[in-house]
Amino acid sequence: METLMELEAYKALSKDELVNRIKIAKREKNAVILAHNYQILEVQHVADYCGDSLELSRIAAKTDSDVVVFCGVDFMAESAKILAPEKTVLLPEIKATCPMAQMVTPDALNRAKAENPDAVVLAYVNTTAAVKALTDICCTSANASKIANSLGGRKILFVPDKNLAHYTRKVTGASIKAWDGFCFVHNMFTVADVKRARSAHPDAVFILHPESPPEVIELADEVFSTSGMAKYVANMKNEDEKHRGVIIGTETGLVNQLRERYPDVGIWPLNEFAICGTMKLTTLDKVCWSIETGNHEITLSGDIIEKARASLERMLEL
Ligand code: 13P
Ligand code: SF4
Repeated sequence: METLMELEAYKALSKDELVNRIKIAKREKNAVILAHNYQILEVQHVADYCGDSLELSRIAAKTDSDVVVFCGVDFMAESAKILAPEKTVLLPEIKATCPMAQMVTPDALNRAKAENPDAVVLAYVNTTAAVKALTDICCTSANASKIANSLGGRKILFVPDKNLAHYTRKVTGASIKAWDGFCFVHNMFTVADVKRARSAHPDAVFILHPESPPEVIELADEVFSTSGMAKYVANMKNEDEKHRGVIIGTETGLVNQLRERYPDVGIWPLNEFAICGTMKLTTLDKVCWSIETGNHEITLSGDIIEKARASLERMLEL
């Protein structure tokens, strides 16, 4: 209750005041702010690092800071805590959860493991810590094929994203049994979206996130994680290429970031309504409140940390 009242007071502060206070608190508390590419721009601007799930996990694992403020969704902050258990990890908005990560529970996974005793369990990082603790190895959208290829041809039980599982199977030829989960933001992309965007921007390259449905992936020129997309646009040096531009099939937070960073490149969303509501719950006032008051601290049991860490570290080693 008290913390909610405190938060109300932060809402009254101006943007400049919030930015200044965040800077001061960061120094005082030796904190680092990590923001996922889907965060609102104001939050991306105060972050020390913006990136995809893989990059942010790597930074969390290596940071010298005492406090990690994770502007993203819960499974990302949990991964940071698992990889750096001695650090204080804060999630400014407790309601920032990933609906896809909720589509696989420990009980359901235990049942599936019993039905597939010969399978390696490969978990997309978009899973809760309790689920990660039951898996053999993790992957992100940036390295799923590489991880699948490293599993020596064994049968794979892939949780929870059926679309990433399908794409990984297509690229690697691995024997993959897919869970029935999906990201509601990417799963809504359709062939009609692609036709509409291609006819509006006929010369543009179409790049897409692998959480998208198979029939849409078939139509993409390239498939990347969010940071893969950012690197692709950063490498568009030739004037003609910049003019022809790029259609981006992912959440609009990345589109906004890239439009700001590369104003001379034509950048269009595949669908302007591709918005992850929980990613947008983190605002500047909540970041300031979080870093100053130490809320909401991520806590996990030692047992979960140990088991989930083994799965995440196997991924990072590769
Ligand atoms: P990236 O790891 O490609 O950034 O995407 C993860 C995602 O969808 C975050 O929710
Ligand atoms: Fe989860 Fe999709 Fe939102 Fe990412 S964009 S947090 S996968 S619901």
